[in-house]
Amino acid sequence: MVKVVCKALNVTKNFGKFRALDDVSLEMYEAEVFGLLGSNGAGKSTITKIMTGLLNADEGKISFFDYELETNYRELKKVFSVVPQEISCYHGFSVKENIRFFGEMYGLKGKELKEKTEFLMQWLSLKKFEDRAAKDLSGGYKRLLNIACSLVNDPLIIFMDEPTVGLDPRMRQLLWQKIKELKDQGKTVCLTTHYLDEAQALCNRVGLLVNGRLVVQGKPNELITKYGGYRILIMKVSKIIETEDAEAIKSSFKDEQTEIIGQTIIISFNQEHSLEKISLLTQWLVGKGYEVQSSTIKEPELEDVFLNLTGERLRS
Ligand SMILES: Nc1ncnc2c1ncn2[C@@H]1O[C@H](COP(=O)(O)OP(=O)(O)OP(=O)(O)O)[C@@H](O)[C@H]1O
Ligand SMILES: [Mg+2]
Repeated sequence: MVKVVCKALNVTKNFGKFRALDDVSLEMYEAEVFGLLGSNGAGKSTITKIMTGLLNADEGKISFFDYELETNYRELKKVFSVVPQEISCYHGFSVKENIRFFGEMYGLKGKELKEKTEFLMQWLSLKKFEDRAAKDLSGGYKRLLNIACSLVNDPLIIFMDEPTVGLDPRMRQLLWQKIKELKDQGKTVCLTTHYLDEAQALCNRVGLLVNGRLVVQGKPNELITKYGGYRILIMKVSKIIETEDAEAIKSSFKDEQTEIIGQTIIISFNQEHSLEKISLLTQWLVGKGYEVQSSTIKEPELEDVFLNLTGERLRS
């Protein structure tokens, strides 16, 4: 049984005449990474701010566990935290001072505050810069400090708004690892991202926002099966395919889109049963005297789901 830890119900938000969110409902479960996906301006930061009480909705409500955010903000503030899209730590303070400062704001003191600060600096590879001013950190380490400051109160639910923007591949991997560790500890991470490979690698479920509307939410694999479209086979054989063989292939794959150009066969398959068909095709070609030189299968990805549902690519 999944346990719902945070819920947005029929949330609408207008900025003047512009509708930034339109009837958005979503749920996040215990111990999962939930990905909020969408292009620039889709409404990701707006729904994140509304779910964390930084902005009021015009309509709809937010609840954590069974408690409404609006009427229980002070108590609920202890169970979640936000890593905002903008760097929010104090530029003049050192790494250590920043984490301590945020800890003090959450009421930590003495030994507990010292241990928590040390732990977070170690855990996020910040210890070596503990006395360096935040403004003198590289962009990537500023992001890690931003995260450390938001984790100091040991929240159960963490909203991270585009935490990996501007990180180099090594730093991105480090942060992915940390997000997985948070999930393994039973925490819920709501991750806003433009990177669909990141969402596919990290998220248990995702929600796709398009122009302020949540068009779909679910497990990446289920969305790929349902909306990802075709699995594409590109096969190259040792000699030009004779016309009658090309006709035979096309007629035995009449339910698929098949193209045969010279030595290359390209078939777009529905995702069911296609591996079996590819194996039969290979055997048939070998029997006809063709040697298979290369065979590539391009599986549909979240990017294809985005493309099929919106007609646009979400480029990283
Ligand atoms: N305070 C505001 N006043 C007016 N319009 C706003 C305000 N905040 C956000 N918007 C608009 O609402 C829309 C959604 O903005 P939001 O920041 O939620 O998008 P996003 O999905 O987070 O985009 P990005 O990927 O660029 O961070 C945008 O068109 C934005 O310009
Ligand atoms: Mg944003």
